[in-house]
Amino acid sequence: MLDVTRVRADTPGYDSDPRMVFLDSAGSSLPPRAVVDTVVGHLRREAEIGGYRAAAERLDDLAAVKTAIGELLNAPPGSIALSDSATRSWTDFFYSVPLAAGDRILISESDYAGNAIAVLQRARATGARVERIPSDHSGQIDLDALAAMVDERVALVSVLHAPTNGGLVNPAAEATRIARSVGALVLLDACQSAGQIPIDVVELDVDALSVTGRKWLRGPRGTGFLYVRPELARTMSPQRLDLHSAAWTGPDEFELAPDATRFEFWECDVAARLGLGAAVRYLLDLGPEEVYAAIAARAEHLRKELPQIPGVTVRDLGIRHSGIVSFTVDGVDSVSVRDRLAADDITVTVSHAGSTLLDMTSRGLDSVVRASPHCFVEFDELDRFLAAVAAL
Ligand SMILES: Cc1ncc(COP(=O)(O)O)c(C=O)c1O
Repeated sequence: MLDVTRVRADTPGYDSDPRMVFLDSAGSSLPPRAVVDTVVGHLRREAEIGGYRAAAERLDDLAAVKTAIGELLNAPPGSIALSDSATRSWTDFFYSVPLAAGDRILISESDYAGNAIAVLQRARATGARVERIPSDHSGQIDLDALAAMVDERVALVSVLHAPTNGGLVNPAAEATRIARSVGALVLLDACQSAGQIPIDVVELDVDALSVTGRKWLRGPRGTGFLYVRPELARTMSPQRLDLHSAAWTGPDEFELAPDATRFEFWECDVAARLGLGAAVRYLLDLGPEEVYAAIAARAEHLRKELPQIPGVTVRDLGIRHSGIVSFTVDGVDSVSVRDRLAADDITVTVSHAGSTLLDMTSRGLDSVVRASPHCFVEFDELDRFLAAVAAL
């Protein structure tokens, strides 16, 4: 069982504002003290001795960032490429997948705008076709429809693990099995699942997976990572290279890095990367399963209680749920809900139709309010939030 008191004591945000109700870990969460101290400490060190010497002092800790991520995902450190966001990681992989006219790219109804725009751009440039995997009656990926759609022209299937709103967790392992049966690559957007839902890339069997640092992992902003299946990490040719992803070996020669490092550039925010490592290590020490159980219990409490409030509709889909609870309030637009709750020191966000266009337009929604409690939120805070929604 998770020691919530300890987790809160480890969260400096509560030192400055013990009364706040923080429900935005799907946006950008509150980092643990270890993360803040690591980042600030490294920035101070850079100011003292310069960035190169400061990084040289932390070479082991920098290597340990990938080891920790590998432990979290059940992947070797060499299959991890560090980046500055989930979208950077997703697009680094996607733009490196060879595509030809007539190839098919499948995206899910709840796919994220950043991914979908990249898919549309490449389809225009290459003549590949973009097709939508329908959702089933519950709102998750329709596995039967997917099985009927796939053939050897499918180059890539984009699977959204936990969409940015809508509360569902897609059956990623099952979808991957279907896609891989015809030799298609599977790119899993785990931006909203890593850090809340335990992930095992061997069980999921995906080819690549993208994650951001600032959300459920509670890392610094401007961090993220890509997992690439080790065989692909040794053979794929990334779209862009530098002197870290490759070595200039002769006047006309270069050699790619032997692993997923080939998807990284040399320059990076070292403090933020060390902070990401501290965040992942903190999560591993707490226990990803315990954290998941705590998040799920809090989200279910909200899903049960919100519909009891007159005029409030929970807009979540799917069979298995994530820690993201989406809702609307009759007669009060989502932005006003967010702003009025903020006046009560309650943080939620608004998710607009543009971020999950296919899903939101098919449901006739232009925005939803998103409440995403991490494991450190107390149940009485959830009740304060519910009372504030009722008072709207
Ligand atoms: C499902 C999903 N994928 C991708 C992203 C993009 O993440 P980033 O802003 O780190 O690129 C988000 C951000 O909200 C998201 O919710």
